[in-house]
Amino acid sequence: MKQALQQISQPISADIVRFKDAYRMALQSDNPLLMQMVKHVINSSGKQMRPLLVLLCAQLCGKITEASIHAAVSIELLHVASLIHDDVIDESDERRGQPSLLAKFQSKTAVLGGDYFLSTALSEAVKTRNIEVVDAIASMGKILVDGELLQLSGSKNAIYQENYYFDVIKAKTASLFCTCTKLGAITATQYTASQLENAKKLGEAIGICFQLKDDIFDYQEGGHIGKPVGNDIQEGKMTLPLLHVYETANETDKATILVAFQNKEVQKIQQWVYEKGGMAYTQQKIEHYKEEALRYLYTFAASDTRNAIEQFILLVANRKK
Ligand code: FPP
Ligand code: MG
Repeated sequence: MKQALQQISQPISADIVRFKDAYRMALQSDNPLLMQMVKHVINSSGKQMRPLLVLLCAQLCGKITEASIHAAVSIELLHVASLIHDDVIDESDERRGQPSLLAKFQSKTAVLGGDYFLSTALSEAVKTRNIEVVDAIASMGKILVDGELLQLSGSKNAIYQENYYFDVIKAKTASLFCTCTKLGAITATQYTASQLENAKKLGEAIGICFQLKDDIFDYQEGGHIGKPVGNDIQEGKMTLPLLHVYETANETDKATILVAFQNKEVQKIQQWVYEKGGMAYTQQKIEHYKEEALRYLYTFAASDTRNAIEQFILLVANRKK
């Protein structure tokens, strides 16, 4: 995965170095406790796929600018802030196979750490001197809150419907990818209105693919780094593989599934999901959104950058972790 991403970022490798330097610089603080948290987050940092998408999309729509770098830093910081807060909400001790900030620093400190990342994200957005970037980042924060609240407080009837599931994943994941491609377009040297629209749709389709794949991992041994199989079930989240089995079951089976889900009977549920086509159905949806992403990508002229984004889409759809 790391190697594949390195290859994808090859055409813009110098800009990735600029991004990494700017990311580290942005987080400098005189507060030793904050720096301890920053160090912990940087040491357990993820694949940084979102900033890569911002920069690739900026190059696709024209050329990467100084504003594109700050926008990439800003969206990554917002993403990290949301995960820090999410681990507090989900009471989750692990993130990417490492102790979460919550586990290492306790909830009060971790919440403040998340606040620091969020505030730094806003400072970076301002550094672009582009009010549309500031607006995109601020709006993104609100959408993430909406998505998280929707997931937390969905009514008993709604949470077992496919359209509710898609509303949640669009808000909590796809919107972020959509903002990445939008930020890429609006910080590029030049872009047209139709390029911006196609870039946003491209990002949204990639984001849906990404979350569907993530939800499939929850049913695969070793699928998720640092997470046991059935983590979503343990957290009371019914994702598409199970949701499909539930929606297509008869009334008696529906009741049985609900009881097993509420009792967190992971193995039993996992078996149904495989046998009753929940995995295959979710895989079909991944293919659908992958094709959609490629369709929007092909509205752009052929180039090395377009090839790199094509590889990015295939990686998101076919990744094993
Ligand atoms: C992970 O979901 C969480 C998110 C994608 C978004 C979390 C958003 C918030 C906490 C609200 C907004 C916060 C800020 C700072 C604006 P998950 O729990 O399904 O996935 P996981 O398994 O990776 O934890
Ligand atoms: Mg979580």
